[in-house]
Parts: sequence; C-alpha cells; structure tokens
Amino acid sequence: MWHASFVAPAGTSAPDDPAAWFRLAFVVDEAPIRATLAVTALGVVEPWLNGARVGDEVLAPGWTSYRHRIVVSTHDVTDRIHTGENVLGAVVGQGWARGRLADWDAPGSKFNLFADRAAVFAELELTYADRTVRVLSDDFRVTREGPLLADSIYDGEVYDARRELTGWCEPGYEDGTWAPAERVPVDLGRLVPRTFEPIRVVENLAPVAITTSPSGRTVVDVGQNISGWVRLRVEGPRGTTITLRHAEVLEHGEPAYAPLRSARATDSYTLRGGGVEEWEPRFTYHGFRYVEVEGWPGELAASDLTARVVHSDMPRLGHFTSSSDLLNRFHSNVVWSMRDNFVGLPTDCPQRDERLGWTGDIHAFAPTAAFLYDVRGVLGSWLDDLAAEQADRGFVPWVVPDCFAYDSSPTALWSDVAVGLPWALYRAYGDPAILERQYDSMVAFIRQVEGLLDADGLWSSGFQFGDWLDPDAPADRPTEGKTDPHLVAQAFFARMTRIMADTAGVLGRDADAATFTALAERVRAAFRAEYVTAHGRLVNESATAYALALSFELLDADQVERAGRHLAQIVAKDGFRIATGFAGTPLVMDALTRAGQVDTAYRMLLSTQSPSLLHPVTLGATTIWERWDSLLPDGTVNPSGMTSFNHYALGAVADWLHRIVAGLAPGEAGYRTLDVAPQPGPGLDHASARLETPHGPASAGWRREGDTVTVDVLVPEGCTARVVLPDHPEGVVLDVGAGEHSWTYAIPVVSAVELSMDSTLADVGADPDAWGRVRAALDTYLPGIPIDPTDPQAGSVTLAGLLGFIPGVPAGLEDALRAAVAGDETSS
Ligand code: BGC
Repeated sequence: MWHASFVAPAGTSAPDDPAAWFRLAFVVDEAPIRATLAVTALGVVEPWLNGARVGDEVLAPGWTSYRHRIVVSTHDVTDRIHTGENVLGAVVGQGWARGRLADWDAPGSKFNLFADRAAVFAELELTYADRTVRVLSDDFRVTREGPLLADSIYDGEVYDARRELTGWCEPGYEDGTWAPAERVPVDLGRLVPRTFEPIRVVENLAPVAITTSPSGRTVVDVGQNISGWVRLRVEGPRGTTITLRHAEVLEHGEPAYAPLRSARATDSYTLRGGGVEEWEPRFTYHGFRYVEVEGWPGELAASDLTARVVHSDMPRLGHFTSSSDLLNRFHSNVVWSMRDNFVGLPTDCPQRDERLGWTGDIHAFAPTAAFLYDVRGVLGSWLDDLAAEQADRGFVPWVVPDCFAYDSSPTALWSDVAVGLPWALYRAYGDPAILERQYDSMVAFIRQVEGLLDADGLWSSGFQFGDWLDPDAPADRPTEGKTDPHLVAQAFFARMTRIMADTAGVLGRDADAATFTALAERVRAAFRAEYVTAHGRLVNESATAYALALSFELLDADQVERAGRHLAQIVAKDGFRIATGFAGTPLVMDALTRAGQVDTAYRMLLSTQSPSLLHPVTLGATTIWERWDSLLPDGTVNPSGMTSFNHYALGAVADWLHRIVAGLAPGEAGYRTLDVAPQPGPGLDHASARLETPHGPASAGWRREGDTVTVDVLVPEGCTARVVLPDHPEGVVLDVGAGEHSWTYAIPVVSAVELSMDSTLADVGADPDAWGRVRAALDTYLPGIPIDPTDPQAGSVTLAGLLGFIPGVPAGLEDALRAAVAGDETSS
C-alpha cells in the first residue's frame, strides 16, 4: 500500500525541458528506529538526502514496460536521518519514459512513449516504536533552473556548472523561487518492488591513449568498447565548455560517428571556474571506446578522465579459456557485448538511436547469457514485461517494451522468445518457477502460431525475419538470405512446440504435455515432408537449413550422418567462413559436431578470413559486431546504416564453446547432472570452462600434450556427471559423483591438416600463414592474378588444379607453390 503520488513541475512539459530538481525540508524530533526511502520515476531519478545521493543505482529505475510495471527501489537511510531539519531531494530527467526513443525513421519525432511528463515518486518512511511518519513526494518543491539543461539517453547531456544550486539538498536552503510540484495521475498498481539487480557503475577504466587524429581532433581511447560514460576532472576558467563525443571505432584515424545514426552521444560541461571540478553525466549512456574531447582548458592528461562502465550489476557465473589467444579474445568480446547490452534490460546494441529490447537478439543469445551471468533477475523482469505486453495487445512485440506504433506479427526467433527464453533459464538454473510464471504466455504464443499453420501443418505465410543478416543478403535487405524464411520459421516452431511439450511435462500438466507433444510431432513431420529428402538432404542447400535441422533434431538418426556431410561440404565450399545469420550462426558449429564433423567445425571456429568469428578479433575488435564485416577490409565502416560494433547476437556461438568445445553442459536442468562430452579438434591444445552452478562450482576441460590427452572435471556437491572421454580408443563413458576427477590417456595423434598441392584453395585460404606464402609465390610469377580463396569455387579447386587453368604456366611457379604450401618461407 503506497501513500505518495507521482509529481512533476506544474504545467505541460516540452521534450527539451531541463532536468528538474525537487526538494522537501522536514523536521524530525526524534531519531527513528528505521528509515526507508522508496523511490522511482517515470523518467530517470537520482534520489538525494541531506546533501548527498542515496544508494549507488544509476539510471534508476531502469527501463521496464512502464505501462505495466514501474520498479520501485527501497533504500535503508536510517543512518542518514538526524534530528532537526532534514531535506529529501531528487533530480529527475527524461530517460526512456519520455525521452526520444526508436525514432530512427524521423529523428526527433518520437517522445513521450510511456509518459508525457517526467515525474518522480518518493516515500520516506520513518518507523518509531509507536508510530510511522511518512514524508511524501506530494510535498516536493521543484525547479528547472538547475545546471542540467538537456538530457537524453541517445543524445547525451548538456550541463552548465555555473547554474549549480549549491546547497539545494541541505537544511536552510532558500527555495522560495521553487514552485510546488504538481501531482501526476499514475496508477500505483503498476509499482513493483525491485527484485533484480539495478544498473550501477561496475568498473572504472583509465584511458590507454590520447592522440591527435589526422584532422586535428583530440581522441581518447579507453581501450575497450563499453557502455557508460566518462567522468572528468578539470580546472579552468569559468564558462569554458568541454565537449565529449563518443564513438565505437576509428575510420582512418577519425572517430566514426555514422554508426550512431542520429544519436548525438555528446556530453558537454561548462565550467564554474575557481578550482578543480569533477563531473560525470547521470541521465544518459553511450556505447563507445573512443571519446573526442573538444575545448579542454590546457593539456589533457589521461588521469583527467575515467571511463565508467555501466550496466546491470549481475553476478558473473561462467568462464571459458583455451590455447588460442584469438579465441580467448573472441570470448572476452562476447562477455563485453553482453555487459554492454544489459543496461537494465537486454538490448540489441548500446550506441545508436535504437538500443531496444529486441526479442530475436536475446532469444539467440539466451543460453550464452545464462551461462556467463546470473540473468534470472534481469531477464525474469523482462519476461514479466513481455507477458504483460502480450496479454494486453494479443501479440509478442518484436521489441519489449514495445516502442512501435504498429502490431508485431508472430515471427520465428523473435516473437517465440516467449517460449525459448523461459526454457533457457530453466535449463540453466533448474528452477521450474520461471516456466510456471511464463506458462500462459508460452501457450498463448504457441496457440497463436498453431492457428496460422496451413493445411499441411506449415507456417508458410506472413513476414519472417528469417536468417536475419545472412552475410550474403543484400546489405540493405537483411531478411533476404539464402535460407527460405519459412523453412527457418518451421524449424523454430518445431523446436518451440517441443519445448512447450517438455515444459508442460516438467510442470506435471500431463494433458497439455500430450496435446503439445502431438502438435510438436505434427510440426516436425510437416518440416520433414516439405524440406527434407528421404536420405537427409535439405531442399534448401544452405548451412542454416542444415544447422537448424540437425540442432533441432528434425532428422531421423539415419539421416544425420549424411546431412552432416552435406553441411561440411557447404562450409568447406564457403571457405570455412560464416555464411549464416542470426538463426544459423549460433547453431552451425553445434550441428557439425553433432554430426561428427568436428574438424570442419574447428576450421570454421579458428578461421580468420572474413566473415569469421576471429576476423574482427584480428582487426582489434573488443566486442561482437552486428555484421562480421562491420569494418570493411579497407578500414572503412560498412555503409549499410545498420552497422553496430556491439551486438551480442552472433556471440551466441559461445554457448557451443562452453558445452561442446570445453564440455561443460547441463544434463538435467540446472546442472544437477552434468553432460561432459568435450570434442577437441585440430588447432586447439586445450580448452576449459567453469561455472558457478546453483549447486556450487563446476568445471570441465581437456589438454592435449603429444599423444596424450587429460580430461579434468569438477562435479558440484550432490551432483553427478556422465563423462564421455574424447577420442578414447575404447570409447569410455563414465558416471561419476561430486568432486574432482582427472583422466589421462593416449590418443591417436591428431595431425594438423597437412597442406599440399592437392589441397583446395579454400583449405589453403583457411590457414592465413600458408595463404600468405602462396599469395606471395603467385605474385612473384603472376603479379596481381585475381585468385580469391574465399570464393565459393575455391572449395573445389586444388593448387595443382589451379595450374591447369593458367595458360603457359611460368617456369618456377609450380616449385614455388609447392614450397610455399609446404611452409618453406625462403621459397618465394
Ligand atoms: C536490430 C537487430 C534486430 C533487428 C530486427 C535491428 O535494427 O539492431 O539486432 O533484431 O533490427 O529487425
């Protein structure tokens, strides 16, 4: 039962209103036993008490579907209350509730998506032995005459320290020019207590370099693409304005602002003068690694700036490491993209005029997210929003909270997050409560799509995102990849109906389990009838089609091997590069290892050609990019207009690294039993993963030394593991109990892929060193000859065969190629 009201400055408010400062002086006669402050806002709020901020949350209350849920944080402030005059304060900005949002079509056009005024709610409760006294936001006085002239999540802040209201939250401050705040009607039934981690400043980074760009700009590199802002420490003349403009990458040495589209991502600070000043923004955040600094008085030193890493403060759970530095950096990039995109809720990206709760991105990434961090709180809250929006509107919005003026139609990988995400959380943490809570939402989605199936049981109509961002789709039409979007939809629906049946089973809803099992079988059969030949070939010969069919178990056991071979051929033909989008990429290596094509999976994993997992790493990426070629080979930014350098979706591959490469997979949900079946492959000498499971620490990993392999496993207390020892000559499978286990045994020597004149151009191209030597040899004899090892044909032309295509092969070329491919550096 709440007693306070939401309040705002009187009158209507304009989108570019300065932030509001609220204060309320009150007298306390006697120290209370306990004092708690409950606070939230439609907008973003910084609560204050007696001259200092309360708590360490930033960007409170974070972003939820305010139409349904507004999160209230409660702070224990007992020690901050004293007898005599006290002052409760609040600074309130626009935030997500009414700032500009999702307006990339017409920048500046969409405000007030959730509220037409930024308003604050505060209730300070003083508990005494015999009574409770409440200090309520209803009595706030307010002014807009403070220093924060503009604040916007996308655009940044404008702060003029000359306008600071010194002492505003202290007793005795003269607030006669402030006006009484006005009540704003908000249904308090929407208020929910904060039960999940707030957004905080989680880490500080010192700049690693300050340089002058070719055009003369001062550019600070904080060494890592982060979400957050920069804190500055400065001394200079009053009225000096410093501008900080944020960018993710440099393009030919200059900050690249185009990927931000219309987001200004610019903070400006005007000095009050007269000593050292420290400042950081409070109501915005930026996705950036580089900061262009303009107007700094005097010489800028690295110690003047601190990059503040800002995100939901979730506990870290999972880790991965291997013998490949590039792969380790890739994994670290996945972790960073997750951190940068969990600012209150799961977003697609943290930098441009978007930053929305895109459903497809988190659906793809969910198993990885749930391994790396404890996301029960943040994603549980987001699923509450999803269910509320869905119940209200009759569909799962493509973005949650919904920011679009139109209805979202049901789509695979996006809308079906309603089913896939609760299941991913259940699998990771073993708590069926999440399935119970989401059950109606899950069923509603399944029923909706069931109603759309055609007479053949196919989801064959309506818009689909398909294999979004297939690298072969036209840059401006990301849905037009190589894989039929309705094949993708059918595969996902087969998977989702299976999950639905399993969910009903877990919850003991037997009748539903039977109904959904029948539906799942019908959908799977329809997939097979329409898209799979009798021998296990997919009619749509794309890596994604095979990956979905194999990973979602849509093939019969006797079709798997052949499908795996076809998939391996497609991957080899593509030069072991990524040729899949959001739907296929997380699954293609998983599908290869499921079907016994381990070597192909590893060649793909470790390729550095573009597009590949490691290519961006070789270019210095510190996060996962939206497109593998967000940066083009010539150092320019991909001009597609949808070029983020911080999207976690494709980082979903990490789930396979954890489960299959390292071998740490849940058997029973929540790791009560572990399935340890690592699959070592060529190119890695060791890999391991560790995880804080709900039952305690677990780990799995392997190390290869010469002709022996050692497998190490840690099974949590009260748990068991089924261990399949990889490459064991006798195919050993063991069931073990809690504790540490280690096995060392001899294995047939795994020879690295040996390159020769009989290797295909694609094979040679997959080894950057070998390709460098071969290219040099070709250039010596036939300067500039256009041969591309990443060309689809390169998978079927050997080096020897290539000579057959060259009229009048120059003398010496064959020997040079032979030496080059064999690794003899002196040859060319
Ligand atoms: C987002 C994606 C999202 C997609 C769907 C993009 O603008 O950044 O990650 O899933 O739109 O349309």
